[in-house]
Parts: sequence; C-alpha cells; structure tokens
Amino acid sequence: TDHFTYDPGFTSTGSCESKISFIDGDKGILQHRGYSIEDLAENCDFMEVAYLLLKGELPNMEEKSKFENDITMHTMVHEQLHKFFDGFRRDAHPMAIMVGVVGALSAFYHDSLDINDPHHRMVSSYRLIAKMPTIAAWAYKYSVGQPFMYPRNDLRYAEDFLHMMFATPCEEYKVNPVLAKAMDRILILHADHEQNASTSTVRLAGSSGANPFACIAAGIACLWGPAHGGANEAVLNMLQEIGTADRVGEFVAKAKDKNDPFRLMGFGHRVYKNFDPRAKIMAKTCHEVLGELGIKDEPLLDIAMQLEKIALEDDYFIEKKLYPNVDFYSGIILKAMGIPTSMFTVLFALARTTGWIAQWQEMIEDPSQRIGRPRQLYTGDVDRKFVPLHQR
Ligand code: CMC
Repeated sequence: TDHFTYDPGFTSTGSCESKISFIDGDKGILQHRGYSIEDLAENCDFMEVAYLLLKGELPNMEEKSKFENDITMHTMVHEQLHKFFDGFRRDAHPMAIMVGVVGALSAFYHDSLDINDPHHRMVSSYRLIAKMPTIAAWAYKYSVGQPFMYPRNDLRYAEDFLHMMFATPCEEYKVNPVLAKAMDRILILHADHEQNASTSTVRLAGSSGANPFACIAAGIACLWGPAHGGANEAVLNMLQEIGTADRVGEFVAKAKDKNDPFRLMGFGHRVYKNFDPRAKIMAKTCHEVLGELGIKDEPLLDIAMQLEKIALEDDYFIEKKLYPNVDFYSGIILKAMGIPTSMFTVLFALARTTGWIAQWQEMIEDPSQRIGRPRQLYTGDVDRKFVPLHQR
C-alpha cells in the first residue's frame, strides 16, 4: 500500500509517542522525564525513580513516604503461588520461573481488574513493583532448596530484596549498606529505556487490552534473550570462559571473524553509538563497590578491563561503533555481591518492571492508541493450483 515501509528489526520506525525516557544515542544521553540518568543515579533511590517514571514528577518527602507505604502494602504474594514454584524442576532457570509465576499473577488479578479505571491501573502497577522482589527472591530460594523468606516492610526496597535472597529462618541477615546502595543503583540504571524489545513487547501485548500481569510476563520472556537482558549473564559466562587476561586477544579476534557467530557480550547497542551513559555509571559503581568490599585482584575485572581496552582501540569496534553497554559491568558487581549468575537477568526484570508498567499505563491513557499490528513483506508463493492429497 501507499504507506508501507519495510523495516525489519524496527530500526527507524517510531511506534508511539512517549514522555517517559529520552535517548540521544550519538551524544550518549539518557533522561527520564527530563532528568539525566547521572543525576538520578547519584541523588535518588529506586523508589523515587519509580515514582518519577510512573507519575512524571519527582516526589516530595510526603509523596515519597506515601508511595513507599503503598508499595509495601503489596509485597506479599498470594499463598497459592507457593504451589506454582513447586511445579518447577529445582534446576529450572529462574527466568523461566519468572515468566511462569508473573504470568500466573494474571489469574489472581483478572476478574476484578478494569484496565480502563485509572485506580485499577495504579493498583496493578503497585502490585507488580511490590511483588517482583518477592517472586524473584523466591525463584532463587527454590533453586537452592531453602524456605521462602517473607518480605519485611520495615526494610527499604533493595534491602528487602537482599534480605529475602540471603536470610534464612535460622539466621538473621544484616544487609550490608554498601551492597544495598549498589543494588539500588543497579535497579535505577535498569529502570527504563524507551522502546527496547521487551518494552515494545509489553506495549504490543497490552495494545489488545490484555491483562497487565500477562503483558509483563511477555516482557520478561523477551528480556531473557542474550541479545537483550540475558547479556548480563552472558557477559559473566564469557569472562569466565576467557579465564585469564592474556586470552582476551583471542576472543576479540573471534568476535571480529565474519565466519564466527561469536559476539563480545556486553558490547554494542542499537541506539548508543558513542557510549552508553549507564555503562559509565556502572563502571564507576563497580570500582567503588569492589573497593568498599575490600576486593582486590578480582580476576574477572582484570579481564573485563583488558577487554574494554583492546576493543576500544581496535578498528573493527571503532568502525562499527561498538562500546561496552550497561550489561558489561553489572555482572561483575552482582557477582561481588554474591548474587548467582543465573539471577542477573532476573534482577534486570525486577528493575525494568517499573519502566514496563509506566509505559503500559502511558499507552492505555493515549487516545491515539490502537492495537499494534505490524505488516509484512510477503515473499512466498501465490495462486498455486491446489492438488488433492491422493494426487500429491
Ligand atoms: N561483538 C562483535 N561484533 C558485533 C557486536 C558484538 N558484541 N555487536 C554488533 N557487532 C557487529 C555485527 O556483527 C554487525 O556487523 P556487520 O555490519 O559486519 O554485519 C554490526 O556490528 C552491527 O550489528 P547488528 O547486530 O546489526 O546491530 P544491532 O543494533 O542489531 O544489535 C546488539 C545490537 C546489542 C543486539 C548487538 O550489538 C549485540 O548482539 N551485542 C551483544 C549482546 C549485548 O551485549 N546485548 C545487550 C544490549 S544493551 C542492554 C540490553 O538491551 O539488555
């Protein structure tokens, strides 16, 4: 038709208007609701950023404490959901558990949910943000065969998550403030990133009027892939595979080889062609955290630094504008914090839920919103003569 454009991978197609996140990929700028990611990461906690993404303004003290209170009202998950966990193999990837359990939330909140009612939309958003740490920590607890820890509403958001991950009924877990702060910052840096693959998935699923909990489960499924959120796990596996700094050159050569599908995980970005501002903050945080935890000679960090140096000086990476992205450093911090590798992408999902649900709300409230329905370029056969089965 007249307006048809063929754009595989949507490199140049705007799918919506949005007031939430702004990216200038050439300048390495990311802003949420007009505030730079640097200012937010440096001065806010995750709850403030969540409030900003959802409501468009930074909260004052009173608004913030009410918001935190509202969120903590929803941190528990229905007892029936315990049973869902039991259905998974113990060695199930926690992202698989997340897709299943978050999808199952839709069965708990469906009949009573009218997505056209702003109050219902808000409560659904609060429920999702509040329950994600609980579900994420339980996915981990299930994998190690420990009892699930209930949320503690006297703790801050990131602290409570660490507590549910690492406390046991027989041992009190004192959350290290350095770790809690680093976790909070990691959550901020992953909170939203305009129309990336998983956010577009949530919007597309939601455009049909589907249940928001089911839409978020769709986002989690999309995020899982190694080209997207799964990269943080893939980075650490790659650094471990490289093993020693002197083998970095070998892997860089593999990544440049046209006949080898291997890519340097944590490098490259569809939009950032200069640097990823989140990666810069993450690198700084990484050094701070390792310093504060007294971790010296972290071999994986040495490999990462070497890799960064070699790649940044290499013509292939310069020409293709491939720079370390947010996932490059987050894995090293998470590992230093004692978070198992298989949980890295789960943490990304936990943080991004805020962005997903803010974007979902914006879409539902947009009067120009219609069901998302991409077209295609048909390249198959046409008008073939039908042959009955017995004559084929
Ligand atoms: N290592 C080696 N070569 C690469 C890499 C890499 N990491 N990334 C891109 N290239 C090459 C690619 O082979 C292609 O070369 P050519 O033009 O000769 O065919 C060129 O650079 C452009 O790549 P592309 O795949 O067309 O670019 P894209 O915008 O479709 O993909 C990307 C972006 C992030 C998926 C990709 O760079 C990649 O696979 N990176 C590794 C995975 C990763 O770190 N993902 C995390 C993304 S950031 C946060 C998030 O979303 O989770």
